[in-house]
Amino acid sequence: MIIGIDKLDFYIPNFYVSMTDLAKARQIEPEKFTIGIGQTKMAVNPVSQDIISMGVNAAQNMLTEEDKKDIEMVVVATESGVDHSKAASIEIHSMLNIQPFARCIEMKEACYSATAAIQLAKDFLSNRPDKKVLVIASDIARYGLNSGGEPTQGAGAVAMLISHNPRILTLNDDSVAHTTNVYDFWRPTSEKYPVVDGALSKDAYIDSFNTLWNEYTKRTKYGLNDFESFCFHVPFTKMGQKAFKTILSENVEDSTKNRLMDAYQDSVNYNRDVGNIYTGSLYLSLISLLENHEFQDDQKICLFSYGSGAVGEIFSGSLVPGYEKMLDKERHLDMLKSRKELTVEEYEHFFNRFDNGEFDLEQELTQDPYTKVYLDSIEGHIRNYKQQGNES
Ligand code: COA
Repeated sequence: MIIGIDKLDFYIPNFYVSMTDLAKARQIEPEKFTIGIGQTKMAVNPVSQDIISMGVNAAQNMLTEEDKKDIEMVVVATESGVDHSKAASIEIHSMLNIQPFARCIEMKEACYSATAAIQLAKDFLSNRPDKKVLVIASDIARYGLNSGGEPTQGAGAVAMLISHNPRILTLNDDSVAHTTNVYDFWRPTSEKYPVVDGALSKDAYIDSFNTLWNEYTKRTKYGLNDFESFCFHVPFTKMGQKAFKTILSENVEDSTKNRLMDAYQDSVNYNRDVGNIYTGSLYLSLISLLENHEFQDDQKICLFSYGSGAVGEIFSGSLVPGYEKMLDKERHLDMLKSRKELTVEEYEHFFNRFDNGEFDLEQELTQDPYTKVYLDSIEGHIRNYKQQGNES
């Protein structure tokens, strides 16, 4: 049975702040952010973009009317949910006009849950040959102004359509997951921002990767040369690289090291200009890799998913010949390039207005072609969304 990613798209809000400007404002050497952490720009979300509107904006362009009839489950993976009870996927299901006899749920385990959603979709589809599952990873990473985690914030959503006979990536039956109880990053329900032990979170990420790689290679007998490239969860671009280097040891040939490190750079192209989007980070990296790296038919990609707390998973996907036709590099590059740059002061305003729920639609709605849906208001705890250009 061949199940995998048939369609793949993302949405990033239309604002960013430069990491060099942010470093200067915080009296930190810019190279710490641009080289030490490996980030160039950080996506900033306006109050009018929450995980729901970003999810709709990510999925809207790729779904046909036929897809909407075939989708039998919508899963939103997030760690910045807007409700303790109601799943974000219900609003998304409604705004996308997906047929009503569908399951809608929300999944949580820090940055890992989109992978759980994909594996759930794969199992769900195994006895439903004509059905599809929409998986949306949508998050707003916020650590607070002037906090240690501030340079690793970001916002965005990735949408994936999982189906039989996929046209992008077949998900192979080789996944290995690993759970360990660690307090590296978590957000108690009372807290606006996460509690983070930055150094421990880096170590826990690397430990998870090493433990899984040992187990995965033992079970599958695969080695580095079975893969054209690796794709990592990317809270910041230096993180995946640090973990990857631990297995590119002295007894690995230079040609293999160089090949895999070059591909790694292709995989973090977009993430470098976006920042951390938590659940979507690994899959934004996959899009970056597919749109910036040259592959040959049927080559394999190894993916490492990680969510603090902590759950990790390694699995692989095989490229489907002709996958490039299912991508939209030009549109994606334009979405990233046409964003508006904010000064640090403006970013701080956006940040504080978000915390206080103060809408400023005049400043936030930029009429860009990628932001189709936005959050217009919240009245009586009910969220009201509108389509740009269809305000009545
Ligand atoms: N030029 C180049 N590199 C520099 C530098 C400079 N002037 N100054 C510092 N650096 C490097 C450091 O050597 C370090 O690199 P290394 O990890 O390879 O040693 C890197 O920049 C970061 O410095 P560090 O001192 O670790 O930064 P920090 O204490 O501010 O913490 C994070 C960085 C990422 C841990 C912090 O932003 C955070 O907690 N983020 C949220 C949690 C997270 O994303 N965890 C990831 C795992 S999920």
